[in-house]
Amino acid sequence: MSEQQVTPSPLPARKRILSGIQPTGTPTLGNYLGALRNWALLQNSYDCLYMVADLHALTVREDPAALRRNTRELAALLLAVGIDPQQHVLFVQSHVPAHTELAWVLACNTQFGELSRMTQFKDKSAKHPDNVNAGLFTYPVLMAADILVYNADLVPVGQDQTQHLEIARDIAGRFNGVYGPTFTLPEGYVPKAGARVMSLGDPSKKMSKSDPNVNSFVLLTDNKDVILRKFKRAVTDSDGVVRCDPAAKPGVSNLMGIYAAFTGQTMEEVEADFAGKGYGDFKAAVAETVADALAPVQAEYARILADKGYVDGVLRTGAERAARLAGRTVRKVYRKVGLLQLD
Ligand code: TYM
Repeated sequence: MSEQQVTPSPLPARKRILSGIQPTGTPTLGNYLGALRNWALLQNSYDCLYMVADLHALTVREDPAALRRNTRELAALLLAVGIDPQQHVLFVQSHVPAHTELAWVLACNTQFGELSRMTQFKDKSAKHPDNVNAGLFTYPVLMAADILVYNADLVPVGQDQTQHLEIARDIAGRFNGVYGPTFTLPEGYVPKAGARVMSLGDPSKKMSKSDPNVNSFVLLTDNKDVILRKFKRAVTDSDGVVRCDPAAKPGVSNLMGIYAAFTGQTMEEVEADFAGKGYGDFKAAVAETVADALAPVQAEYARILADKGYVDGVLRTGAERAARLAGRTVRKVYRKVGLLQLD
C-alpha cells in the first residue's frame, strides 16, 4: 500500500466568532437556546472564541467564593455543551488583560448619552438601586472591547444583547472614522427559535436565573423531575387550545417556542400535533423533550467537572491563545491613538 501525499488546498480564511456568558449562576434554558447551543453549532463554520465574562459579573455584587466556583463550573458546562477547546478557544475574560486595556480607550470614544440610553442599564439600576455603580454604566464599553479586540465578524447572542451589539458597532465605526480602519464591524447572530425565552412564571418577562421565583426558569442542571414540575406549573391561560399568539397567549406561545426550538418544527406543526389535546399533555411533552435534550449535556458536565485539573488546563491554554490575538490589537490601537511605545 503506498502512502499518498496530499497537499492541502489553501482554505479560505474562516470568519471569527466571539461570544461570552456571565458566571452569575447556572445557565438557564434561555441561555442555552439563545446562545450556547449555537455556540456549539457554529464551530463547524467559524473560528470561535468563547469566554466566561467574569469581569461583567462584578457589576452586581457577587460573593467572591461563589464567583470563583461559578466561573470554573460554567467553563465545564461550556465544554459539556460541546465547545471544542482543541479547535477553538475557551477562556476566562479576566485572564486576558487586553479586554480592560482596550475598554479604556473605547470608553474615551463613547458618549455619556449613548450609554444612558441602554435599556439593560436602566433595568439593572432599577433592580439594584443601592448599587448603581460606574461599571454597570460602562458595561457596554467592556463588551465592545471583548468583541473588537478579536476583530470578531459574528457574535451569537440572544435578543436581549442586540442593543449592546449595536453600540459596539457604533463605537467601532466611530473609531475607524477618526483613526483609520482598525476594527471589524461585528454582526449579531440571533437564532430564529429561542432568541427570547420567557419566564415560566410571568411570560411578559424574559427567563432569567436571577428571578426570585425558582419555578420561573429551567436550569441546564435541573433533573427530569424538576423540569416536569416546573413546566407543569408554567403560567398559561384558560383558553385550553395550543395555539401560537404571543400577544393574547404569551405563556402557551413561549412553551411552543421552546418545544419548536428543540424539535425543529414550525408553530403550525406544533399546533397540528396538539390539536384537541389539553395543556396537561402539551406541558408534559415540552418537559419530556427538554429533559431528554439536556440529559446528555448533564452527564458530560458531571464527567468533566470531576476533573478540575483538565478544566483549568483548558482555561490556561485558552487564555494564552486569546492573549496573543488580543495583545496585537491593543498594541495597534495604542499606537494609533498616540500612546508612546518604546522599542
Ligand atoms: P448573559 O450571561 O446574560 O447571557 C448569555 C447569553 O444568553 C442569552 N440569553 C437568552 N437568550 C434567550 N432567552 C433568554 N431568556 C436569555 N437570557 C440570556 C444572552 O442574550 C446571551 O447571549 N453581556 C453578556 C455577556 C457578554 C458578551 C460579551 C456576549 C460579555 N461580553 C461579548 C457577547 C459578546 C451577558 O450578560 O450575557
